[in-house]
Amino acid sequence: MARHLITSAIPYINGIKHLGNLVGSQLPADLFARYCRARDHEVLFLCATDEHGTPAELAAAKAGQPVADYCAEMHAVQAEIARGFRLSFDHFGRSSSAQNRKLTQHFARRLHDQGLIREVSETQMYSPTDGRYLPDRYIEGTCPNCGYDSARGDQCDNCTKQLDPVDLINPRSSVSGATDLEMRETKHLYLCQSQMKDELEKWIDSKTDWPVLTTSIAKKWLNDGDGLQDRGITRDLDWGIPVQFDGAPWQGMEGKVFYVWFDAPIEYIACGAEWAEATGLDASAWERWWRTDKGAEDVTYTQFMGKDNVPFHTLSFPATILGSREPWKLVDYIKSFNYLNYDGGQFSTSRGRGVFMDQALEILPADYWRWWLLSHAPESSDSEFTWDNFQASVNKDLADVLGNFVSRVTKFCRSKFGEAVPQGGAYGAQEEALIARLTSRVREYQDHMEAMEVRKSASALRAIWVEGNEYLQEAAPWSTFKTDPERAAMQTRLALNLIRLYAVLSSPFIPDAAATMLEAMQTEDGTWPDDVPAALACLAPGHAFTVPDVLFSKITDESREDWQTRFSGIRT
Ligand code: 2FM
Ligand code: ZN
Repeated sequence: MARHLITSAIPYINGIKHLGNLVGSQLPADLFARYCRARDHEVLFLCATDEHGTPAELAAAKAGQPVADYCAEMHAVQAEIARGFRLSFDHFGRSSSAQNRKLTQHFARRLHDQGLIREVSETQMYSPTDGRYLPDRYIEGTCPNCGYDSARGDQCDNCTKQLDPVDLINPRSSVSGATDLEMRETKHLYLCQSQMKDELEKWIDSKTDWPVLTTSIAKKWLNDGDGLQDRGITRDLDWGIPVQFDGAPWQGMEGKVFYVWFDAPIEYIACGAEWAEATGLDASAWERWWRTDKGAEDVTYTQFMGKDNVPFHTLSFPATILGSREPWKLVDYIKSFNYLNYDGGQFSTSRGRGVFMDQALEILPADYWRWWLLSHAPESSDSEFTWDNFQASVNKDLADVLGNFVSRVTKFCRSKFGEAVPQGGAYGAQEEALIARLTSRVREYQDHMEAMEVRKSASALRAIWVEGNEYLQEAAPWSTFKTDPERAAMQTRLALNLIRLYAVLSSPFIPDAAATMLEAMQTEDGTWPDDVPAALACLAPGHAFTVPDVLFSKITDESREDWQTRFSGIRT
């Protein structure tokens, strides 16, 4: 049995994610996890909330809550929405967990002992009014590039230029608005990535099967300018993992925490430990996924993420793992995505633009969104969500093709043969040809799913659904019934079995509809159709079924227009 460790980039805690975030990591990771499980592979699928750093502190301050309370509350909110989208994580952890604190401190100490951490003295903005340093987003001012007066210390939201706090004109504290800022000297730990450049480059060069998007970004950072730079991995913040080791102080680092991008990927591992604890297992249960000296040598590890996360996953996190010189499991495959745009512009969390995950579930069930997002995943380039396209795709693929097939077959059978699979005679040429076509289409679907080609997988699945409709159209059991009821019974038996087969094949994309189809066919047999003829004989003559409710309702023009207007503005 193959073993698949699968992680999705862990979403920031500060607020509910939009559909662009969802399709860039969690949803395709879920598709792959569900597929692997359906093929009887052993799967550990992990995700968590990314709870440290300035975004969390500032969001909590804005909400008027202590940051720990804010994070606990938002974790529960994100977990509930993930359940709503049927994201089948084995565990949805938290980067603020005790397990992550321990592991992050462990890695830092190991890297230090390997000579891969150095102390750097640097000057930083300090606010005497606030009594603290002002890193990243704690500082605001006028953008030197576009003149926007609320640019943040790390980036201008108006023109997207990456900034340094010292670049800002008229800088002020975003905590108190204080302008009496001064530069002060402070010490930080740097991860010596530059020392590991050759090793990282060799490792990336060995990954010849990785998507071009992933390797091109990694190579760009490896070779940009002066090459791979050392990175600061500590910050002057209150909220985060303290720079300590086993509770003992790290001299000169008192009051500092690790940078959020240092501890976030380590949470992938810690999440495994959280999962083991939550399920009452001991350490060996998670170590057999994460330690190559404890059983993980046969694990295939796949990560899913948006393209902005690629540098951290191809360089910084591998530098942490490799640099530790301990036998941790390194990623085998990194599937990255471009951006999904929204109706002529960008989705934006900070600007509240687009459809957010909670809003999406308020208007339609998860499967509608899952199907559209996955079948339009931004793989080879950015893609765009438009309401017209969403309506057309849902109505055609889900309602006209799949939903209609299920409805016609079950209703026809009920009216002519009753609510049990009819017997009928042997297959004819039409059926043999259909089975041959389905056999090759199922193989094609599997190949795309295994290669994590999300759009191609969706097209292959759609083609399998279309085969059923075309067969039904040609075989026309409602006509055959008048002259040859035996043959019509055989055609109906085949079509009812196709519904079960569709449920199994479709379950990674649209799990709720798949469950409804299996329930209607009154079977729990979710065996993958490795052998299509055998799969089409699964429901034997006499097997009872029921006619399900409408699987997918069509989106009316009125609803589409209504939603388009409702989601055209800014979410506050
Ligand atoms: O971009 C993001 O949403 C980050 N929170 C992703 C972190 S992924 C990993 F490193 F944990
Ligand atoms: Zn700007």
